[in-house]
Amino acid sequence: MRSNLLSILYILFIQFIFFYPTTELKSQEVKSQEVNYYKDIAVIVKTHCAPCHNQEGLAPFSLLSYEDVASRSNFIGYVTKTRYMPPFKADIAFQHYKNENTLSAEEIQLIQTWISTGSAKGQKKQRKGDPVTTDIHQKNAPESINVNDYDISVGMQKAFKINELGKEEFRFFYAPLNNGASKMIKSIQFVPGNKKLVHHSRIMTDTTGSIAGIDGISESDTAVYKFQTKPLADNFLFGWVPGNDKIVFPEGTGKKLFQGSNFIFNVHYSPSPIISSDSSFIRIKFTDKPVEREVITLTLKEDNIANLPFIIKANQVATFYMRSAVLTQDISLISIMPHMHLLGRKFKAFAATPSGDIVQLINIPDWDFNWQMTYTFQNYLYLPKGSVIYAEAQYDNTIQNERNPNKQPKDVGYGWGTNDEMMNLVIYYVAYKPGDENKPL
Ligand code: HEC
Repeated sequence: MRSNLLSILYILFIQFIFFYPTTELKSQEVKSQEVNYYKDIAVIVKTHCAPCHNQEGLAPFSLLSYEDVASRSNFIGYVTKTRYMPPFKADIAFQHYKNENTLSAEEIQLIQTWISTGSAKGQKKQRKGDPVTTDIHQKNAPESINVNDYDISVGMQKAFKINELGKEEFRFFYAPLNNGASKMIKSIQFVPGNKKLVHHSRIMTDTTGSIAGIDGISESDTAVYKFQTKPLADNFLFGWVPGNDKIVFPEGTGKKLFQGSNFIFNVHYSPSPIISSDSSFIRIKFTDKPVEREVITLTLKEDNIANLPFIIKANQVATFYMRSAVLTQDISLISIMPHMHLLGRKFKAFAATPSGDIVQLINIPDWDFNWQMTYTFQNYLYLPKGSVIYAEAQYDNTIQNERNPNKQPKDVGYGWGTNDEMMNLVIYYVAYKPGDENKPL
C-alpha cells in the first residue's frame, strides 16, 4: 500500500520534472511559429507571384510589399487555394519542367493559416541571413523587360486602334523583315505595346510573300481564310503569355530564320474600357557564333489526327488522337507546347519507344486557353530513333463548358479563328548527342 503511494508520488514528481517544462517550451514554440508575412509569406510571393505581379504591369497589380499582399489577402487565399494562381497548367506529377511554377500543399496551407490568424506582418529580418525585402522582390522582375540585348526589332506597321469598348479582340498583324540571308536565332522576345490589353500572342514566320494583306484583320473576319492557303515557313515560332516573355535557345543551339522571312503574329486583346491603341513588336537576337546544333520544330497538327474528320459536333464531348511519323533519328527534346482554342478541355502527350517504354511528355488536365505556355524540360529529353509521339485532346462543345463561345452550341471545325478549333503539339528538338539527358536546359 505504502509502496503504491510512493510510486504514485514518484510518477507525479517525474511528470512534474519532465512535462511541466516541456509544456512551457511547446507554447513558446507555438509563439515563434506564428505565421507572418516576413518570415513565411514574402518568400512564397516573391518566388511564385512577383515575377508577374510587379510594376511592369503584366499582371493587374503588384505583389511586392506587405501592404500589396495584406490588402488583398482574402482574394489571394482564394486564387491560391483554387490553384488559379500561379497560372501553371501542366501536371508536374506527369513530367517536370524548368519553368514550372506551382505551390505545394504546405505553401497553400501556410497562406490560409496566415489569413485566418490575422495576416500578421512580422519583422523584416526575423531570421539571420533572411534576404526577404521589397528590394529583392523588385530584382525578381522579369529581366527580359529591360534587357536591350537584341539585334533586330520588327513590329506592327502602324498602331492598332481599339475603338470598340468592352469587347475582346483577336487580330492578325504583319511585320515585314525580308532578311537577306538565313540566320540562327538565339532568342525571341515579344514586347506587348499596351501591357494592360495585350493578353497573349503567337508569332509565325512566312516566306511565301502572300500574307502581307492580313495586317490588322480580325480573326473572325472570313477574309482571313484566303491567307490560309499556303504553308508557312514556321507555323509557330513563339507563343507569348505573361510570364513567358521570351524563349532563349540552349547554349550551342539556334533556330533558323529562313531567308526572306516576314512575321505574322496574332494578338488577343482583353476588353478595353477606354479607346486605346497598341504597338507591339518582336525582338530577335541571333547567335554570335556558328551553332553546332539546329533547333528543329516538330509540329503535330490536324493532319496527324487518326480519327478524322476534325469536327466537334454541337452538344458533344469529343476526343481526338494524333500520332507522329516514326522518328528516323535519335532526338533530344527541348520544349513542348500544346495548342487548342476555347472548346479544348484536356491534353496529354507521350512517346512510345521501339522497346516499348513510355516517355511522358505533358498532361494538362484542365486546359485554359488564356494560359498557353511553352514548357521547357528540365534536361534534354531523349527519344530514340523508332519512337512515335502520341497525343490526345478532349473538346467540350456543350453548354457545360463555360468558355464555349456559342451559347447555342454548333458544330465546330478547323480554323485559325478563336471560335474555330485547332489541335497542335509544337515540339522543339535537336539531334541527340550522348549525355544530353544529363544536361540541364
Ligand atoms: C505568369 C504570370 C503570373 C504569375 C506567376 C501569377 N500571376 Fe496572378 N495574375 C496574372 C495575370 C496576367 C492576371 C490577370 C488576368 C487573370 O486574372 O487571368 C492575374 C490575376 C491575379 C489575381 C486577380 C484574379 C482575378 O480574378 O481578377 C490575383 C488575386 C492574383 N493574380 C494573385 C496571384 C498570386 C497570389 C500569385 C502567386 C501565388 C500569382 N498571382 C502569380 C499573372 C500571374
